[in-house]
Amino acid sequence: MRMTSANIRRMKQNGERFVALTAYDVVTARLVDAAGIPLILVGDSLGMVVLGHDSTIPVTLDAIIHHTQAVVRGAQKALIVADLPFMTYHKSAEQALDSAARCIQEGGAQAVKLEGGGSVASTIRRLTSAGIPVMAHLGLTPQSIHQLGGYKAQGKTSAQARRLVEDALAIEEAGAFSVVLECVPADLSRWLTQRLSIPTIGIGAGPDCDAEIQVVSDILGWFSDFVPKHARQYAKLSEVAATAIQAYADDVQSGRFPTEQQSIPLAADVIRDLDIAFPDRQ
Ligand code: KIV
Repeated sequence: MRMTSANIRRMKQNGERFVALTAYDVVTARLVDAAGIPLILVGDSLGMVVLGHDSTIPVTLDAIIHHTQAVVRGAQKALIVADLPFMTYHKSAEQALDSAARCIQEGGAQAVKLEGGGSVASTIRRLTSAGIPVMAHLGLTPQSIHQLGGYKAQGKTSAQARRLVEDALAIEEAGAFSVVLECVPADLSRWLTQRLSIPTIGIGAGPDCDAEIQVVSDILGWFSDFVPKHARQYAKLSEVAATAIQAYADDVQSGRFPTEQQSIPLAADVIRDLDIAFPDRQ
């Protein structure tokens, strides 16, 4: 049985802390699902950690749908949330509905995520009234990076903290089933977590949110040159992969691979027949 957004909400009511993680492909989705993680986000971080862009802004709806399809094929139990990319929900609630509907119908996701607070409350209302569960995202919202002036913590001043609380109350009231708090001071996350009825899902938001989400590439160490402050590397896959790729290249170059072990045998008379059939090629 697959998790639902209602199950996720209930976890908060039952005081159950939970885990969320991003995934972008079938192999990772299988591993995340096997670990019993109840929520997978096909995040627009895809643009940076898989597609090589320097922000999430260039990510398209087609790309999110493409990767969501792969994740859905890999994970049968987790709730799959597709991230609505930049400018696929900002123009109108109807545009948001079209984009979210594609993520659900074509992508196979069961929910969508969008960034913003009070300014997207009416959009959240429109999506939820159409039966599409919405996860909100506050704090450092990477799609607004040009307005925020960089990847900076949010909610550190009284004015910012107050605005963040107002945004959180607005998205809760609009019907979001959960909210990501990214790069928000731990005390503010705790304050919010104690007062919201929906689960807070932290990333760089301290230890007291109802759940934690991380970008899978960060915790697996797919990048050796950069570890975000909010992440912890549980493996160094880039080093493991680099060593393996180099060993493969060396083996092929030197003739150590492939060997007979990796080859398909052929009866001797087949080659004899070829020699007879093509005498001028001997
Ligand atoms: O795109 C993403 O991976 C996200 C997470 C950081 C929450 O939005």
